[in-house]
Amino acid sequence: MSGSSTPDFATALRVKLQTKTLGHPLHYFSTIDSTNVYAVRLAREGAIEGAIVIADAQSGGKGRLGRSWVSPPGVNLYLSVILRPSVSATAAPQLNLLAAVAVAEAISEVCQLFPSIKWPNDVLIDGKKVCGILAEMQTDAGELRAVILGIGVNINAPLSAFPEELHDKASSLLLVSGRAIDRSVFTASLLTHLEKYYVLWLEQGFPALRTAWEMYASAVLGKRIAVAAPEGTVTGVALGFDDGGALLVRGERNEEVHRLLAGDVSVIGGYDRGEKDDPRR
Ligand code: BTN
Repeated sequence: MSGSSTPDFATALRVKLQTKTLGHPLHYFSTIDSTNVYAVRLAREGAIEGAIVIADAQSGGKGRLGRSWVSPPGVNLYLSVILRPSVSATAAPQLNLLAAVAVAEAISEVCQLFPSIKWPNDVLIDGKKVCGILAEMQTDAGELRAVILGIGVNINAPLSAFPEELHDKASSLLLVSGRAIDRSVFTASLLTHLEKYYVLWLEQGFPALRTAWEMYASAVLGKRIAVAAPEGTVTGVALGFDDGGALLVRGERNEEVHRLLAGDVSVIGGYDRGEKDDPRR
């Protein structure tokens, strides 16, 4: 353990961890600037696959697209996992989808709630974001060397932990379930699901995730969406996902089907909220 002054979370997590690879070793900090920044450095220095970095608070939590990630102390999960898959760099973005599925399964198992995934990797409950994922790749001459999967889950954050402009967009498992969730139980469950899907994905690729992915990500299907993609904004109807995990969108202008690997989706008219999202009912 490194830099720990409040080790209860890490100690409890170590006791509950049942994974073979993920979480070994486990670097724990009471406060850090960003678990991703630290994990990126560790990976560059040769850290092994499965090493994780966890903190109780982040002073400079990083979000996607240069945004910051609200990281108050003692209530949430700030986790970065170092992976070294033997796949091409073009397959690496699928790890975003894999991480989102693992988070959704952990929420479902530990909180008995049914989350939805907003492609590619936001996890929502009742239309509000409870988890964000930031994957960072390390390559060498085009070869993938490591992927740092940064996962932030709002577990027990009260509404007051979020700035006012996020009150109608962000939530926590406490706020949606009405009960405090044990962070070590949640994190152990998440790492178990992450390891299970990672092993399957290494063997079979995206098809190994497809059923679970479609169960959680179906909220977007058939809807009119706008995707701010690196190649420009695409507006159209979400058709489904291909075998590489790309989102297929029928464009409004020329009916052309776009295959999108990354971007920021908004559902035109907004996400459905509440129970009707749950395909298990
Ligand atoms: C997003 O913008 O949705 C992605 C948020 C990712 C936040 C997590 S918290 C753990 C890890 N460390 C960081 O600095 N960011 C990621």
